[in-house]
Amino acid sequence: MLSEDISNGEELVKVPVVNELSDERPTSFGYTRECIAGPNVNESFKSPFYPGCECCHCKRDTCSCLHRFGPCYDEEGCLQIFGKQSTVFCQPVFECNSCCICPASCTNRVVQKGQQLRLQVFKTKHKGWGLRPLEIIKKFAFVCEYAGELISVHEAKRRTLELTSETGNYLIALREHSYSSGILRTHVDARFHGNASRFINHSCNPNLVMVPVRVDSMVPRLALFAATNIDAGEELSFDYSGQFTIWSTGEPCVEYDGMEVLRGLGKEPKRCSCGSQNCSGFLPFDSSLYVS
Ligand SMILES: C[S@@+](CC[C@H](N)C(=O)[O-])C[C@H]1O[C@@H](n2cnc3c(N)ncnc32)[C@H](O)[C@@H]1O
Ligand SMILES: [Zn+2]
Ligand SMILES: [Zn+2]
Ligand SMILES: [Zn+2]
Repeated sequence: MLSEDISNGEELVKVPVVNELSDERPTSFGYTRECIAGPNVNESFKSPFYPGCECCHCKRDTCSCLHRFGPCYDEEGCLQIFGKQSTVFCQPVFECNSCCICPASCTNRVVQKGQQLRLQVFKTKHKGWGLRPLEIIKKFAFVCEYAGELISVHEAKRRTLELTSETGNYLIALREHSYSSGILRTHVDARFHGNASRFINHSCNPNLVMVPVRVDSMVPRLALFAATNIDAGEELSFDYSGQFTIWSTGEPCVEYDGMEVLRGLGKEPKRCSCGSQNCSGFLPFDSSLYVS
């Protein structure tokens, strides 16, 4: 074992690192459980914005937090999903927050409690480091939050243009489509600061789904939930495209028209080694980050 706990005691559960293929160690990074402010982002991005409830025991009919969109989690803290096949969706997720008087045991507090499952960083054959659970994970259970530096779109573009074919890309650009505000974009870069999620590789047939979850602030937390039952030892993956469509609609995850933008800059998209039958061949990228 290369490290007993890459979180250095920051997480409730240790996150060990193993390499069964060579002596290589992961390159160092600053460990952070939650997002931190990147350059020119005000620290106040985490400040409470939503009102709290006044419940001792939050229930659907009486709790103002649950009333807003209905309960998002079941009694076991698993995400509640509605609809069938291509029309599946979950309601916007708002957890009870620091202004609520309900206890920490409230079932509407899940992502804010952090990683509860035992996870291990390991060296994969073709994709660098990866992450896998050391226990089975139930479908729709919370796994971990994609933590890193919260950066502006300007900074995201600057960092993206600086990437070379050698540098791993740890930048997630989440897009939420909302009727009232158009497209909301959130950029989190885990290259220099992050948690175990920064080791999760992309797959065109992933076993995790990224869901924006709001606790105190308007800025969503990028929460990863199990999209299916997951075995202990099975590599974790999610779709890097950052499109908040909760389940696959069968559309390719790479913007092929964006290829021209990339090639115009003398860059090539990274080849995907996810190995799934529906692999689109390349890692998703956000072509808008390549244009100023
Ligand atoms: C967020 S990091 C994931 C952890 C990374 N494997 C590492 O060693 O630190 C993203 C980078 O991992 C690699 N990667 C992730 N998914 C991949 C895939 N499906 N095929 C090939 N490389 C992948 C790419 O280099 C990508 O830029
Ligand atoms: Zn509550
Ligand atoms: Zn509440
Ligand atoms: Zn693939």
